[in-house]
Amino acid sequence: MMNAPDWQWNEVQQVGTDYADVAEMGATYDKRMAEFRDVDAENREMLAMLELPAGASVLEIGCGTGRFSRAAGHAGLAATAIDVSPASVEYVRRTAQEEGVPDLTTRQAGFLTMDFPPASFDAAVSGAALHHLPDAWKYVGLHNIARVLKPCGQFILRDVVFTVAEGERPEDSFLRFVESVPTMQTEAMRHVAREFSTYDWIMDEMLARAGFVILSKSPASECFLVYHCRKP
Ligand SMILES: C[S@@+](CC[C@H](N)C(=O)[O-])C[C@H]1O[C@@H](n2cnc3c(N)ncnc32)[C@H](O)[C@@H]1O
Repeated sequence: MMNAPDWQWNEVQQVGTDYADVAEMGATYDKRMAEFRDVDAENREMLAMLELPAGASVLEIGCGTGRFSRAAGHAGLAATAIDVSPASVEYVRRTAQEEGVPDLTTRQAGFLTMDFPPASFDAAVSGAALHHLPDAWKYVGLHNIARVLKPCGQFILRDVVFTVAEGERPEDSFLRFVESVPTMQTEAMRHVAREFSTYDWIMDEMLARAGFVILSKSPASECFLVYHCRKP
């Protein structure tokens, strides 16, 4: 993360909730997520979508507590979990060791600062993390993902992406999101006000221009979209 040019977006700056403490990661973050997501079910669904053979390599970007990477490791894949947060990386490293996950590598890096060689991975997954970047930088991040994937590599993006129905005001999609998470309305309002979730037509176009074919795009819940993409 050294020697970045002056115009480089600082992806380490705090945008979302600050889970700075390692112990807090599991106790607080996973508990909060359980109020409106079934993360284990999401991970099973993503692993089923990817249909990767044993030993295939998968990168998780913005891993948080690394639940996808740990599930992937237990499923026989070679998982690499990255996050800009040192607390997150340390939490995943420790937890994977305690659980005896056979093949899990961790690294402190993000969408913009990962420096894996081209064509390193069979697949990449990112959940609830890309919205931390403004759109101009999301596009840079998506290019980086395409670069580190092997030809025919798959990418699953799961994030808050706003869809606006015909005749609806853009703000209605924000309200639907906030109302869909009754126990986390303060966080959801802050997400809308301060984070960088974008509209689906912008995300569609950015994925295509970054070189991905969108195989499917499905709503996981109100405003959470799942894109399953492939690099040609
Ligand atoms: C809301 S959590 C999502 C964690 C997990 N992927 C999930 O689905 O629950 C967002 C994570 O993205 C990380 N993050 C924020 N900006 C990032 C960036 N530019 N590159 C990689 N990770 C980033 C944060 O540190 C945090 O761990």
